[in-house]
Amino acid sequence: MSASLDQLAGDRVLILDFGSQYTQLIARRVRELGIYAEIRPFRSSRADIEAFGAGAIILSGGPNSVTDEGAPSIGTWIYEQGVPVLGICYGLQLTCHLLGGKVRKSDHREYGAAQVRKLEDAGIVAGLDDHFGVWMSHGDVVESIPEGFVAQADTDSTPFAAIADEVRKIYGVQFHPEVHHTPQGKAMLSRFLFDICGLSSGWNMADFLDEKARDIQAQVGQDHVLCGLSGGVDSSVVAALLQRAIGSQLTCIFVDNGLLRHNERETVEEIFGRNFNANLVVVDAREQFLGELAGVTDPETKRKIIGRVFIEVFEAEAAKRSDAKWLAQGTLYPDVIESVSPTGGPSVTIKSHHNVGGLPERMGLGLVEPLRELFKDEVRALGRELGLPDEVIMRHPFPGPGLAVRCPGECSPERLATLRAADHIFMDELHRSGWYSKCWQALVVLLPVRSVGVMGDERTFEEVVSLRAVTSTDGMTADWVPLPYDLLGRTANRIINEVRGVNRVLFDVTSKPPGTIEWE
Ligand code: XMP
Repeated sequence: MSASLDQLAGDRVLILDFGSQYTQLIARRVRELGIYAEIRPFRSSRADIEAFGAGAIILSGGPNSVTDEGAPSIGTWIYEQGVPVLGICYGLQLTCHLLGGKVRKSDHREYGAAQVRKLEDAGIVAGLDDHFGVWMSHGDVVESIPEGFVAQADTDSTPFAAIADEVRKIYGVQFHPEVHHTPQGKAMLSRFLFDICGLSSGWNMADFLDEKARDIQAQVGQDHVLCGLSGGVDSSVVAALLQRAIGSQLTCIFVDNGLLRHNERETVEEIFGRNFNANLVVVDAREQFLGELAGVTDPETKRKIIGRVFIEVFEAEAAKRSDAKWLAQGTLYPDVIESVSPTGGPSVTIKSHHNVGGLPERMGLGLVEPLRELFKDEVRALGRELGLPDEVIMRHPFPGPGLAVRCPGECSPERLATLRAADHIFMDELHRSGWYSKCWQALVVLLPVRSVGVMGDERTFEEVVSLRAVTSTDGMTADWVPLPYDLLGRTANRIINEVRGVNRVLFDVTSKPPGTIEWE
């Protein structure tokens, strides 16, 4: 079965965002069930919502109280289109508020795990255990539900944990089925989407790939496309996808800025140049970058130099392909979702990736962003479908300014070589021990100090490196990973023995906040 998005009209889910921190999770869960889902701000126009052609609508949670003046809301027409609606937390309260129920502001928030009791075996709780655990996070309390609704589940503190109007197919839950801490949440969403809404699953990566390839062909026609390849997951998947879609119409540009990790350039050459047979231009700009960085120690100045030189180098290379009309970028879904401000005010921010600065505007290039609908884990699945090796797909994030932000002080070629060698050993040990995949990111920092040591009978006065490993979901917050002592010990031993000029290894146990992940 083909999962062309057009053909699937009706088998797609619209999630209206009222500002919950979990909204993206709802979309992910729906997609995990094999149904395409998109998030739109609650203020979307009726025309836009109708044009989307949803087979189910989910109203997200949100931080506001429905009783507040100017609280985020939606026209009641949303309930009258014959499309089933599920309100989650704020979505349930809003539904009650709009359809004639009563919602009261509570002076305390219910937050955390709760036990739900099923009152009837129907609606989205049909087939579940009589009692089940859920995750609650809400302030307001529903006092009475609108006419036509029944309570299908309750808890000790709320009589309306799950409600339904089975005739109009309007449902609501006070808890969050989308979060991990609601173990039967996926079963509830599945019940809603498949049994109640009658949707069928057809969203999978193989179909998405075919569809995207056709979209790209239609978008660019016979034009030539440039792709800045960094070796990271996103740009690699974009490049592989474009290579599949338009082959010789694509030129990938990889800039060696001298700030790369061990073997990074060779890996890109191997995969894209040899395996995929792509038009790959590797620009050796090491001298240019390191020349401009010589003697510079201020972190911000280093970053600015690297950003500027990158654009100069990329632009000069791009100008050689004067027939190029498009630039491909690895913008992901979390970057393009319009975020709803917690106050429900009119401010809407849209983040976008500008990996190559203002280049598209300056050179008059159009943008090709084939990953715009995907979450990171879906990008990885697509990469796998395209035949990219795990080495690329499962890679930790690596910052644009490269090793420079892990090399406080001067980024001399010698210090970079030291850092690169130490980093390579740490990565090797993480891979061997199975810890690489358990860390969101791991790195080595070369400190701008020397310490006294003793090696053999000799006194040494050499460099110090610090190991860092963190877990995170988006890089915004992070926790340090308690790596096993033997792994740390082995890594430290190897670095000191194998990397000339390093006599001390530290382990960074700072979370973010207060520390950032990188050191500069
Ligand atoms: P910080 O150090 O701010 O980093 O906690 C958060 C995440 O962002 C990455 N990072 C960058 N990525 N260009 C990038 O593409 C940059 O200039 C940059 N600076 C930091 C960092 O590696 C971490 O994953």
